[in-house]
Amino acid sequence: MSDARLWHEVDDYFTAHLAPGDEVLDAALRDSEAAGLPSIAVAPNQGKLLQLLAQVQGARHILEIGTLGGYSTIWLGRALPPDGRLITLEYDPRHAEVAARNLARAGLDKLVEVRVGAALESLPRLADENPPPFDLVFIDADKANNAHYVEWALKLTSTGSLIVLDNVVRGGRVADPDNTDPDVAGTRAALEFIGSHPRLSGTAIQTVGTKGHDGFALARVLA
Ligand code: SAH
Ligand code: DHB
Ligand code: MG
Repeated sequence: MSDARLWHEVDDYFTAHLAPGDEVLDAALRDSEAAGLPSIAVAPNQGKLLQLLAQVQGARHILEIGTLGGYSTIWLGRALPPDGRLITLEYDPRHAEVAARNLARAGLDKLVEVRVGAALESLPRLADENPPPFDLVFIDADKANNAHYVEWALKLTSTGSLIVLDNVVRGGRVADPDNTDPDVAGTRAALEFIGSHPRLSGTAIQTVGTKGHDGFALARVLA
């Protein structure tokens, strides 16, 4: 059996027992695909990890950068208490529309706000509103801007907040300092920012699964 096939089987087994879909999550993926969105949402077991991290944080305020069809948003939104709030930033209005429908079907439209526009424009506007610090920030948009997103996440959080950065490995390209792909450079800059910033304590973990060889980084905001 090929490595990729085995990773897929293991993910399917984990997902079946630990992160099974339901009508709302399945429909979110189905309608995203029907609308022509790329199939790059987090895997179900990764969505469940995001939900667990939000619960461990006791998160009441969550920020997501990169909504797509709102699949990861549903996993995160379901971790919120009834008075919680999630703001998710999406560049593509078509993606945001699909997400809004998926979130409404999930009954999360009161807790979740989808903001359309380039995140680097939405973030300063959000900061101007002086929102309460976000307990968890999930960064999953254009990877070239990852370092900027981590910097903004740091501004919008407080001691004890958690920053999660998706797709930091991308088949191993992250380890190549000569790679000129802006996505790789952006992710390396983000990881090096986390590693060198006195107010961040972070790590990164490689994963294999239905999405190939990839990984995520976690950073906790210190005092
Ligand atoms: N978090 C989603 C997947 C996000 S895919 C999930 O797991 O379900 C990445 C998304 O980031 C895409 O929808 C893309 O349109 C969006 N994106 C790309 N560039 C962006 C930008 N500059 N600002 C905000 N969103 C952006
Ligand atoms: C891809 C996967 C992702 O999780 C993402 O956020 C962007 C792109 C991909 O597989 O291309
Ligand atoms: Mg991703």
